[in-house]
Amino acid sequence: MNQIKPFYFDITDDEIGYFLSETEKILRSGKLILGEHTAEFEKAFAEYVGVRHAIAVNSGSSGLEILLRLKKVEGTTVLVPTNTNFATVAAVIRAGGQVQYLDMDEGTFAPSLQMVQDAVERGSTAQDVKISGVLWVHIGGVISPEFPQVVEYCRGQDLFVLEDTAHAHGSQIKGVSAGNLADGAAFSFFPTKVMTTFEGGMVTLNDEQEDYIARSLRNQGKRGMDFGGLHTDFGNSTRITEINALFGRIQLKKLPDMLKRRQRAYELITAPLREAGIGFVSTEQMDAASHYKLIVHLPEGKTLKEVKAALGSEGVFLGGTVYEIPCHQQPVFEGICPGQSFPRAERWCPNHICPPLTSGMTEAEAKVVGETLVRHLSSN
Ligand SMILES: Cc1ncc(COP(=O)(O)O)c(C=O)c1O
Repeated sequence: MNQIKPFYFDITDDEIGYFLSETEKILRSGKLILGEHTAEFEKAFAEYVGVRHAIAVNSGSSGLEILLRLKKVEGTTVLVPTNTNFATVAAVIRAGGQVQYLDMDEGTFAPSLQMVQDAVERGSTAQDVKISGVLWVHIGGVISPEFPQVVEYCRGQDLFVLEDTAHAHGSQIKGVSAGNLADGAAFSFFPTKVMTTFEGGMVTLNDEQEDYIARSLRNQGKRGMDFGGLHTDFGNSTRITEINALFGRIQLKKLPDMLKRRQRAYELITAPLREAGIGFVSTEQMDAASHYKLIVHLPEGKTLKEVKAALGSEGVFLGGTVYEIPCHQQPVFEGICPGQSFPRAERWCPNHICPPLTSGMTEAEAKVVGETLVRHLSSN
């Protein structure tokens, strides 16, 4: 039986050859960090996203923390969707902020504008709460059609909006790319993402002074690329290596092509779902999507466990969910927003699946995924 897997490491023999020969040059040069590959990777990524500055770091998590430190969230409250990865919430706490969760809408798996407005209004009347901004997540690479309005509303309230773009490389709405839609963003290049540097991340922003401080924060708080002993900011050692940056350049070059293949797979998988009336999170409102995850709603009466087993028995292996357990139910975050419930997240987090969708998938495989889903998810 043909197995259709949820992950595909997209690399060719030519790319491996080039990577090895360039890596040899790095090793012989002895310039292992903050060299030509880092600078070129940052320049190319900034151009791709359409921002003035891109700062490469060693993970998406460190990128988020840098952004939050730039915004000086210490002692303030940041609105964060409960439906996100551990890293989003952890970054706020690491930067000294408090978290107020937002619920989600099943149409986008992100919060709605109304949810943001309600939380801001509640915050404005609560004692000892000072909301400084929102850390938004484009779950699965999907940009909510309301996101531009969220940014506009927050600007009117003097609140920042940061984008967690860990899933959203290449996603675009109204002609603007994820990473350039608000006041700063952090991408992840973790191996499962649509492009990888093994481990790595990228901060994107437009403000020159913030670029200067972000570069300091990733380098133990040393300003101006100074390798001396003066530490001005409370930074960390979160630089990317030259070898990771080299690999990032190789991946970025082929990103448009990888995304084109993911788009084709998305179309082939979702056509039969649409016809059968099976709900999924659509990217129709967008100009382009990363298609990091296709989110399919489980119909009433079907459980994740049984659907996963049934599809697996036919060779269709599901990817990880986004996310089965929302952050407000994670043991590590016990004590955040005590007593509050987030009914949409509680309803949909355990009740969706993410079928395989990769740049390495053949058209025939994508069709099989769509047809197999219809057979297992249709009510009759
Ligand atoms: C939504 C989200 N934010 C942040 C991160 C953190 O990225 P990294 O693993 O590169 O630190 C992830 C990664 O898995 C993620 O999915």
